[in-house]
Amino acid sequence: MKTLVLDEQQIQTAADILKNGGVVGIPTETVYGLAADALNGAAVAKIFQAKGRPMDNPLIVHIADFADIGRFRLVREVPESAKALAKAFWPGPLTMIMKRTDAVPPEVSAGLDTVAIRFPAHPVAQAIIRAADTPLAAPSANLSGSPSPTTARHVLNDMNGKIDAVLDGGASEVGVESTVITLAEGVPRVLRPGGVTVEMLREVLGAVEVDDAVLHQLREGAKAASPGMKYKHYAPRANVVLLKGSDEAYLNYVNAHAEEGVCALCCDEDLLSLSVKTVSLGRRGDYLTHARHLFDCLRKIDENGTIQTVYSRLPSTEGVGLAVYNRLIRAAGFEVIDLETI
Ligand code: TXA
Ligand code: MG
Repeated sequence: MKTLVLDEQQIQTAADILKNGGVVGIPTETVYGLAADALNGAAVAKIFQAKGRPMDNPLIVHIADFADIGRFRLVREVPESAKALAKAFWPGPLTMIMKRTDAVPPEVSAGLDTVAIRFPAHPVAQAIIRAADTPLAAPSANLSGSPSPTTARHVLNDMNGKIDAVLDGGASEVGVESTVITLAEGVPRVLRPGGVTVEMLREVLGAVEVDDAVLHQLREGAKAASPGMKYKHYAPRANVVLLKGSDEAYLNYVNAHAEEGVCALCCDEDLLSLSVKTVSLGRRGDYLTHARHLFDCLRKIDENGTIQTVYSRLPSTEGVGLAVYNRLIRAAGFEVIDLETI
């Protein structure tokens, strides 16, 4: 099978493929998704096959109107907290978990009694959901374990021949996957940080918890609230090493390790001071730009083919910085070198 590349004029073609139970890569403002009709279990099963995704990892259901939740009877009850968050942040990079109904096929919910729902902001994503006239289940459109795709080319690199089509809607603006918050029990809890920050959520809801798995490695045998959090994720083939310390200590450490196969994932301000290969996330402190470039940088490092070790600073946990931190600490297998103590 050859994967069709469609442009924004060909939304109806993509919608027809989806209505017939096919799988299509679609642009969203966070990352590209691998979409299938969320109400068709057999179509959803093809997503798992194409990605090599473990079947116990549930998918996000994408809608194009808040009213779709009721129209397709996706949840038992919409909590007040969900209405408030939708008003503030939808359409946008926020996924809400609620108690599901039986309209959600078991392939989507992976055996849980909840469903994750997102109303994406990308106009092409909205247009395709409307044209298909059904909610779309979509994980990120990468091979399981690889960095998420932020362009149609990234999707093709991973999925060519494995899916029916990819719809090209340009580079994703946010660059990291949506914030995932559960509203299904107790105090709302962030399971994955993203473009809607913890600070922004607290402004609307007051109390919001952050799941332990966001910052730390799960203890052996502990159950992940979000199954996706337990898998090694976002990892390029090269070994990512995180360094904690001042800018000066970072530059000195990397230059002292300027060997073959070493690369610095750095900021624009570092470029002239480093004597190794460099890939820049953007200007220092500009966390939005770092998020937008992160996965493309990790993919570039692998495409180079000769890089074995990547040195990056430990990101800040402020604002969108937390989303970058969460992805990089997983890419690094939770290993951090503290430059103050060596
Ligand atoms: O930005 C995004 O969220 C992208 C775009 C395509 O919308 N999608 C995405 O999907 O990142 P995926 O499958 O790569 O990540 C979804 C995460 C996984 O960690 C999964 O375990 C979690 O959300 N998840 C989905 N449904 C859940 C549920 N019912 N309960 C707990 N976690 C859930
Ligand atoms: Mg993913």
